[in-house]
Amino acid sequence: MTSEEIKFKFNLYDSIDELSKDDAELLRESRAVTQFAYAPYSNFLVGAFAKLVNGKTVSGTNQENASYPAGICAERNLMGTASSLYPGVGIDTIAIAYHNLNGSSNRPVSPCGICRQSFAEFQQRTQKQIRIILSGMEGKVQVIENADDLLPLRFGGNDLK
Ligand code: THU
Repeated sequence: MTSEEIKFKFNLYDSIDELSKDDAELLRESRAVTQFAYAPYSNFLVGAFAKLVNGKTVSGTNQENASYPAGICAERNLMGTASSLYPGVGIDTIAIAYHNLNGSSNRPVSPCGICRQSFAEFQQRTQKQIRIILSGMEGKVQVIENADDLLPLRFGGNDLK
């Protein structure tokens, strides 16, 4: 028997003001696009905004449905858009913000499990690590250098071979 350990580090900033100009711009945009979310059921508006490796930017928001499971998260919407407009192009950095109409929006929240799985596949097929910036509409900001860190011991295409 061996005992294994997985650790990862991320940076925590007190506010958007501590970020580099480029990161602050992405976070500002992700906060702004929360207004385009369609979330009448959860009232939890999520905005994602990414810079791709080719310099283009793409946004995504969550889009819900009366048949709840038909809804899609902002992150996967963004990946679908990126992949459709610029197939095969990696994401350099994605900022993800949320506006909780039922409560506060002043701390970072993390992507859901399905989005983590989707990030892992996106990284693998584009061969580009994705940096993730997480925050609410105000307050602290987490910056994670590699989306794979969010899904240790992940399942992937190689496991099907
Ligand atoms: N949501 C996202 O868009 N991204 C996440 O990472 C977490 C959750 C959405 C899904 C649903 O529309 C609402 O937030 C509440 O779960």
